[in-house]
Amino acid sequence: MKIKNLVIKNKLFLAPMSNVTTLPFRLLCKKYGAGVVYSEMINADAFIMDSKKTLKRSFFIEEERPIGIQISGSDKKNLVLASKKIEIELKPDILDINIGCPAYNVMKTGSGAKLLNDINKLGDLVKSISESLNIPFTCKIRITTDENYNVSIAKTIEKSGANAITVHGRTANQKYSGKANWDIVKKIKNEVKIPIILNGDIIDEKSAKNALGSTGCDALMIGRASVGDPYLFNRINYFLKNEKYLPDLSKKEKIIIFFEFLELAKKHDCLYITNIKMHAQHFTKSIVGSTVIRKQISESKNIEDIELIMKNFINN
Ligand SMILES: Cc1cc2nc3c(=O)[nH]c(=O)nc-3n(C[C@H](O)[C@H](O)[C@H](O)COP(=O)(O)O)c2cc1C
Repeated sequence: MKIKNLVIKNKLFLAPMSNVTTLPFRLLCKKYGAGVVYSEMINADAFIMDSKKTLKRSFFIEEERPIGIQISGSDKKNLVLASKKIEIELKPDILDINIGCPAYNVMKTGSGAKLLNDINKLGDLVKSISESLNIPFTCKIRITTDENYNVSIAKTIEKSGANAITVHGRTANQKYSGKANWDIVKKIKNEVKIPIILNGDIIDEKSAKNALGSTGCDALMIGRASVGDPYLFNRINYFLKNEKYLPDLSKKEKIIIFFEFLELAKKHDCLYITNIKMHAQHFTKSIVGSTVIRKQISESKNIEDIELIMKNFINN
């Protein structure tokens, strides 16, 4: 598929996830088959103020390409400034704006899903950003309970110059619970010409095939199911191509991928105990008999302890 002039080698995108899709995790998802990876959400106001933490969050390396940087904000001037600064200084392949974050702290500033409430303001914002950019520009939205309004939002975004839309088939009120509504995503897909990337509840080979088949969407974006299982991209790509399943990874193979993650985190200076702990928990979640391990991981005080726990786990 193509987003503007960017050719993407498959139909699987890694979703932007705050505190999850850090550089080492993105690299791993890329290695195991993600066609596009997205950064964590970058606050536009903080980015233009050169906030150290925000700059670190937006950092990526060449090996990750194609990569999208996602920004959030509500002030048009700052969003345009941040987008342009990101385009010039970081040169990502895609700039994405978050129009779906349901977090209270984000919505109270008028950002995230709050942007869905005022279609005229949203259209103006998208138009201003798209006119200022040369790189492909995507919008990530949530659905609302009003079916016709969803289509109006998508049409407005398209008319305002965005090159693709990711639709998360849940409302902001649903946050991350309940089933994603693929019928609404399909309705949107049928009403616009730019590529639609479906997001929500892609968890395995079957759900991926069903989602593409039943909605006609151009690509799929995967969030939570990839956490602890970046190899999922490989399995889904294989299934979409061959209609056959790859064998499941063994316990050892799964833990080896965790160690790959750890090595990348060390190499790229991303060794944060909470983050490593969280990923270690996820990498063990599907392994039979791993409850004890997860308790040990959650009680560990440093990264060396986690390393030791995981090494022992491989050998037992
Ligand atoms: C921990 C976490 C952090 C997230 N952070 C972001 C974010 O920064 N930007 C964004 O657009 N969506 C964010 N999301 C939403 C995901 O991108 C995705 O839309 C959602 O998880 C639904 O997809 P899934 O069913 O495949 O998980 C986040 C989700 C989770 C679970």
